[in-house]
Amino acid sequence: MEKSQNIPKMPLKSRRKSAYYASTRSKRPATAPAKSAADGEAETRFGRHVPVMLAEVVQALLVHAGDAYIDCTVGEGGHLEAIWQHSQPGGRVLGIDADEAAIARARVRFAPYQQEIVVEHGNFRDVEAIAHEHGFAAVQGIVLDLGLNTRQLGSGRGFSFHEDAPLDMRFDRAQPLTADQVVNHYPEDRLAQVLREYGEEPRARRIARAVVRQRPVRTALELGQIVGAAVGSAGGRIHPATRTFQAVRIEVNQELASLETGLKQAIRLLAPGGRVAVVSFHSLEDRVVKQVFQRARRGCGSPADCADEQCLHKPVARRVEPKLWRPSPEETDTNPRSRSARMRVLERLPEG
Ligand SMILES: C[S@@+](CC[C@H](N)C(=O)[O-])C[C@H]1O[C@@H](n2cnc3c(N)ncnc32)[C@H](O)[C@@H]1O
Repeated sequence: MEKSQNIPKMPLKSRRKSAYYASTRSKRPATAPAKSAADGEAETRFGRHVPVMLAEVVQALLVHAGDAYIDCTVGEGGHLEAIWQHSQPGGRVLGIDADEAAIARARVRFAPYQQEIVVEHGNFRDVEAIAHEHGFAAVQGIVLDLGLNTRQLGSGRGFSFHEDAPLDMRFDRAQPLTADQVVNHYPEDRLAQVLREYGEEPRARRIARAVVRQRPVRTALELGQIVGAAVGSAGGRIHPATRTFQAVRIEVNQELASLETGLKQAIRLLAPGGRVAVVSFHSLEDRVVKQVFQRARRGCGSPADCADEQCLHKPVARRVEPKLWRPSPEETDTNPRSRSARMRVLERLPEG
């Protein structure tokens, strides 16, 4: 029988999820972290961060007692907590996040469980080195839940066009490139290219021109207003600056390049039969996931000519069906952020 068949279906209201895990994991009901993702601590003016496709991630990774797992995107710790609980007794989880503030909160929250949970500030494009440093080689499961968490929207870093905050948009505040540099210092052509490539913004040129004309742009709110005035709302439900903000954030954090590198490393870190699950929120992320997974399933085809240092050359993995996992209608009803979510899951071959 597959391990996944042992995992109970979770109730849909996320507030109840932690309690449900505790009650269904009778081995350790008293050890759940004092602060769960359902606690008020994760509440911001943008709402509370509710982990997306939580039950599906646990199910897809076949989380099993005694095994080792990595959460590459700790955020508010919802996925980490669930994976940890299902991996007890005996399991260990390594959590990584580029956001120092998220890691600081996770360190406090999971402090009583240091034997089982290690959290480390870092970028998942370095997951292999971080994992080896902490004794996590050949792990049974890895999750990446991409994008930003709800708390970051209200963090004063200008991630949202509703925020009267400086243009920063860095997950990792130690890195040099900020949104201010992209918005106020990139030449118009380069800015338009960023908006086109990373925002799939059809009116990239018009927006770039308007931004350049109105420099310096001081705040996220101001940027949102400039974009809105340049292209209008077209009466849609989506704010006209949504694509612009996505594009600038991807550029600032080099999100797609990190994803490609991190995923290749994640696949290498898997034990035979181990799984990696990636929850993505837009087509650009999903395209990278799809391409990296495809390469892992098929191999590069030509080891002699392959210029990719990270390529494993031969097929090392298989797809875990369904091809594309989607949140349940109940989840999309209760958590609007989950509506654009999709998940792909890959399994390392026994001999891979
Ligand atoms: C959607 S949130 C994760 C939420 C988390 N699963 C939870 O249950 O609370 C995404 C997180 O990934 C982090 N992140 C984004 N890109 C990263 C990267 N390249 N390396 C490490 N962390 C990254 C962000 O800082 C953010 O906290």
